[in-house]
Amino acid sequence: MDSKEKSISLLIFLSLMSISTSLQYQTLVIHFLPMPQSLNWTIQKEARIIPTTESEAETTLLSVDLHHVDNLSPSALSSTPEALFNLRLERDSVRVSMLSNMVARGGRHARPRKEGDFSSPVTSGFAQGSGEYLARIGIGTPARYFSMVLDTGSDVSWVQCAPCQKCYNQTDPIFISSKSKSFASVACGSPLCRLLYSPSCSTRKKCQYEVNYGDGSFTIGELAIETLRFARSHVNNFALGCGHDNEGLFMGASGLLGLGRGKLSFPIQTGHRFGGKFSYCLVDRFASSNPSWIIFGTSSISRNVVFTPMLTNPILGSFYYVGLNGISVGGVRVPGITSSLFRLNRSGNGGVIIDSGTSVTRLVLPAYIALRDAFRAGASNLKSAQNLLLFDTCYNFTGKSEVMVPTVVLHFTNVDILLPASNYLIPVDSKGRFCFAFAGTSDGFSIIGNIQQQGFEVVFDLETSRVGFAPHGCA
Ligand SMILES: *[C@@H]1O[C@H](CO)[C@@H](O)[C@H](O)[C@H]1NC(C)=O
Ligand SMILES: *[C@@H]1O[C@H](CO)[C@@H](O)[C@H](O)[C@H]1NC(C)=O
Ligand SMILES: *[C@@H]1O[C@H](CO)[C@@H](O)[C@H](O)[C@H]1NC(C)=O
Ligand SMILES: *[C@@H]1O[C@H](CO)[C@@H](O)[C@H](O)[C@H]1NC(C)=O
Repeated sequence: MDSKEKSISLLIFLSLMSISTSLQYQTLVIHFLPMPQSLNWTIQKEARIIPTTESEAETTLLSVDLHHVDNLSPSALSSTPEALFNLRLERDSVRVSMLSNMVARGGRHARPRKEGDFSSPVTSGFAQGSGEYLARIGIGTPARYFSMVLDTGSDVSWVQCAPCQKCYNQTDPIFISSKSKSFASVACGSPLCRLLYSPSCSTRKKCQYEVNYGDGSFTIGELAIETLRFARSHVNNFALGCGHDNEGLFMGASGLLGLGRGKLSFPIQTGHRFGGKFSYCLVDRFASSNPSWIIFGTSSISRNVVFTPMLTNPILGSFYYVGLNGISVGGVRVPGITSSLFRLNRSGNGGVIIDSGTSVTRLVLPAYIALRDAFRAGASNLKSAQNLLLFDTCYNFTGKSEVMVPTVVLHFTNVDILLPASNYLIPVDSKGRFCFAFAGTSDGFSIIGNIQQQGFEVVFDLETSRVGFAPHGCA
């Protein structure tokens, strides 16, 4: 090598150095997959009580602890952390295909599918895609407490209801409407009944509802008015489905609370009281034993929340869409990830849904590939490990207690969200293998999943059509 070649290679070396040292890194603390835990629902009977000066019925704040479905399964304790995690990923793919079916159908609720008419991998009832978080909610007078799935992707709330034409196994006794003094039927043809997508009429002139979740599961029954109870507060005259024919297992939950944007959803029905506002915080379960929670009400919004406008799919009103304009890795905008990849168009195609029931964020393929390549380049000093299922970028952190990893920032309209390292590098076993927790999708739209939302207070304000984020929101 002559001196000229030497100086050129030194120059190349120096410029490579400056590229790599100019990237921004942050610390990832290494945790392994936690040992499975099972919840004692007896202790969880009552919702968390928030002190309030208002009288019981008028409280404008409602707070409920959320429980991850992994802790509900009776078999969880006998499961390995890896098996539980794989089940979660299986549920996740069901969830994504369910959202995709709903988007494709534009919110039209098709008749229940006949058995065998469904190709998604509903291998066990446990692999349902309806949601990842549950809450204990009281129904009726006197109140009985039930574990209910909370779902930001659908509107109608319902509970399995006796007499059962067909009910799946649930962990609580079945709700018996005739034993509740506050239960009232809704007549078909009533304004409330007409808010349903596909109302129908029973032989006894009662309003019939039907919801199909697009993953093969459905609920059919009578629409009723009932009281919901949350510790010291309650919600009267709530339109609730009394499901006599239900299929799917919904993880052993007794029913579902719809948190979508449609007219019958919980936040819309209670809008006069809670201002169409709710927020939740999903705890990083790999690292914390604090409970996750959801709060309904105006005062639920912390001061340090930053907002991005909520976008609306003109064809399908239930989902929460946000505008995503780009992503940075290590402080540098990833070339090729532009807002055009995430645009929601007037036919309801494309866009970015923020969802609590999806775990791993899905990005349209060109965006994912660009993000992954940028991340791999920034993390090239880390020891790679074998891929796992939908993850194609995994690392071996065996023997380490912490590592430096490139930062990831999501650039939403008006808001840049710096993700904590544990929101994009997650443990997949008990030995130190971690994977980059994003995936590609060819469904045409992207989904911000709950792993990426961990630790943030995520605010949904339907009144002002904004979605907000506050870091360190779980305290
Ligand atoms: C659950 O908690 C209740 C109340 O503390 C207790 O009586 C019951 O034995 C517990 N059940 C289990 C299965 O641990
Ligand atoms: C439902 O529970 C009953 C009683 O525990 C059990 O015999 C039955 O096999 C269960 N059914 C399903 C589909 O899991
Ligand atoms: C929306 O996007 C879809 C798929 O890319 C396309 O087929 C459709 O024509 C677009 N509609 C409008 C109104 O731009
Ligand atoms: C990770 O690296 C260690 C050595 O540091 C090795 O023993 C182990 O087999 C590797 N694990 C994986 C999953 O690659």
